[in-house]
Amino acid sequence: MPTASFAQLPNAQPTADIIRKDILANPGFGRYFSDHMAHIRWTLDADWHGHEVRPYGPLTLDPAAAVLHYGQEIFEGIKAYRHADGSVWTFRPEKNAERFRRSARRLALPELSDEDFIGSLKALLAQDHEWVPTPSSEADECSLYLRPFMIASETFLGVRPSHEVDYYVIASPAAAYFKGGVEPVSIWLSSNYKRAAAGGTGFAKCGGNYAASLAAQKEAEAHGCGQVAFLDAAENKWIEELGGMNLFFVFKDGRIVTPKLTGTILEGVTRDSVLTLARDAGLQPEERHISIDEWREGAASGEITEVFACGTAAVITPVGELVGEDERIRCQPSDNPVAKQIRRTLLDLQYGRAEDTHGWLTRL
Ligand code: COI
Repeated sequence: MPTASFAQLPNAQPTADIIRKDILANPGFGRYFSDHMAHIRWTLDADWHGHEVRPYGPLTLDPAAAVLHYGQEIFEGIKAYRHADGSVWTFRPEKNAERFRRSARRLALPELSDEDFIGSLKALLAQDHEWVPTPSSEADECSLYLRPFMIASETFLGVRPSHEVDYYVIASPAAAYFKGGVEPVSIWLSSNYKRAAAGGTGFAKCGGNYAASLAAQKEAEAHGCGQVAFLDAAENKWIEELGGMNLFFVFKDGRIVTPKLTGTILEGVTRDSVLTLARDAGLQPEERHISIDEWREGAASGEITEVFACGTAAVITPVGELVGEDERIRCQPSDNPVAKQIRRTLLDLQYGRAEDTHGWLTRL
C-alpha cells in the first residue's frame, strides 16, 4: 500500500517532557491528548485533499455546521502499542478502515481509503510516538488510544448530506478502560430503552448510537452498574450488545457464543479476533441468537460458566452480574479462566510477546 503524504506542521509549544511523563505514568482513559492531530478535508468538488498533521487544538466550526444539528458523524477506536524493543504497532487497522467505510456509507459521508486511514495514523505517530506509553509489566495494558472521526462541516441548515467534511485523528494515552482492570463489571439490563432497530444505524460507529445509549447508562449508574446490556427492539428477547462493547458467553462444554450480526450490532474488531483466537484454542465459537432467558437459565443451571465483554477500549472484561428491575443474574462463582486466557493471548499478540501468526500487526 503506498503511503499517503501528510504535511507536517509541528506544534511550536509541545507538552514539556516532564509533564508528558507524568501523564503517561497515570493516563486514565480519554483525559489527556497528544500534541498533534491528523486532518484531511473533503469537499464535493475536490474529493479528499489537504492531508496534514497539525498542532492539537480546538476546531473552529460555524454554529450552523451540519454535524451540530443533524449528527452526521462517525468515528473509530484503535490502539498503538509499544513493544519491548521500543517499536510501535497497531492491530488490524484495515478492519477499522473497512468498518469506517461501512459507517460512512450509512451516514451518507464520503469513504476514506485504507491508504488515507492507515496513512493518517502513521503520519500522526511520526510526530507523537513519544506519547505511546511503555508497559511496566505484562499486566500493564497501557497504550495510545487513537480516535479517527469524520464530521459534516458544511454551513447549511437544510437536511441533506454535507458537501464539506473533515476527518481527524486525535490520540489519547490510555490505561485500562474500567478502573478495576479485569475485575468483573456489573451490567444493567435496560428495559426502558433500545439501542438500535432493523434498518437503523446499529452496525455503524456513529455518535448518535452512543448518544442514544446515555439515558440507559444513567440508569445503570443509578443501580451501581458500569455498562448497559441492550435487547433487540423487535421482540425484546435477544441479547445484542453493551453499546460500546460486544458480549460473549462461555458454556460448560467448551462452546463460546456471541450474538450474531444482524445489522443492529457493531461488528467489533476485538469480537472478530476473539472468535479466531477461540477457534485457535480448540474451542467452538458460535455466532447465533442468544436470548435473555438462555442467559438466565444457563447462569442458574451452571451451563453458562462465564460471560465477558470485549472491545478495543475494554479489551476483554468479565461480567460479574446482570442487574434488572427485579432480578440479578449471576454465573456460579468462577475465576473466569476462559476470558482471562483469551485476554492474555490477545494482549501477548498486541504487545509483541507472541508470534503474530495471523499477520494482524502493522508497524506505525
Ligand atoms: C472502543 O472500544 O474503541 C469504543 O469506541 C468504545 C467506547 C466505550 C470507548
